[in-house]
Amino acid sequence: MKSELRPLPYAKNALAPYVSARTLEEHYEKHHRHYLDQLAKLVRGKPEESRSLEELIRHADGALFDNAAQVWNHNFLWRSMRPPGGGRPPAAVCAALDEAFGGQREFERRFAEAALGRFGSGWAWLAKDARGRLSVSSTPNAENPLQKNATPLLTLDVWEHAYYLDHQSDRAGYVRAFLEHLANWDFVEENLAAARPASRG
Ligand code: FE2
Repeated sequence: MKSELRPLPYAKNALAPYVSARTLEEHYEKHHRHYLDQLAKLVRGKPEESRSLEELIRHADGALFDNAAQVWNHNFLWRSMRPPGGGRPPAAVCAALDEAFGGQREFERRFAEAALGRFGSGWAWLAKDARGRLSVSSTPNAENPLQKNATPLLTLDVWEHAYYLDHQSDRAGYVRAFLEHLANWDFVEENLAAARPASRG
């Protein structure tokens, strides 16, 4: 398990005005780092120190699970956004969204519904389940589709710390900005390809 924060894949001002440099300064440098520091304290000198984040997410509970999952979720969040993102996905992703939801627009409606319907803190996800089906969901707090053996494809953090500085209480505006301007479809395509069973090429 790495004890250093993985570098952001872009400059801190790259997602502005939808996610500002000030938000990333707080969210990445403080919140994400705090989860990593807490996790390092919890595993120090214990067998869990050599476990991967994925193993901890699948097998740990309590504070160990919460901090391991929040480190993983934020690593995944940073790559779920890009400047400029949103727009039309690559052909392979469009085909997968068509098959699962009847199109990108319906996917986005369901994703926004999941993000807005999450009471309190949590995450919205696009994931591929163990049977190979794409689905949209939301999870509370640190929970993650890996716990159900699904493969996450895209996520959005809907904890208030993710959007309050830029959007105040307008979570809907934050979710819309993510879908229209930040969603990293190339990352979804990579995750989809990695999730494909080897037997099917
Ligand atoms: Fe967060």
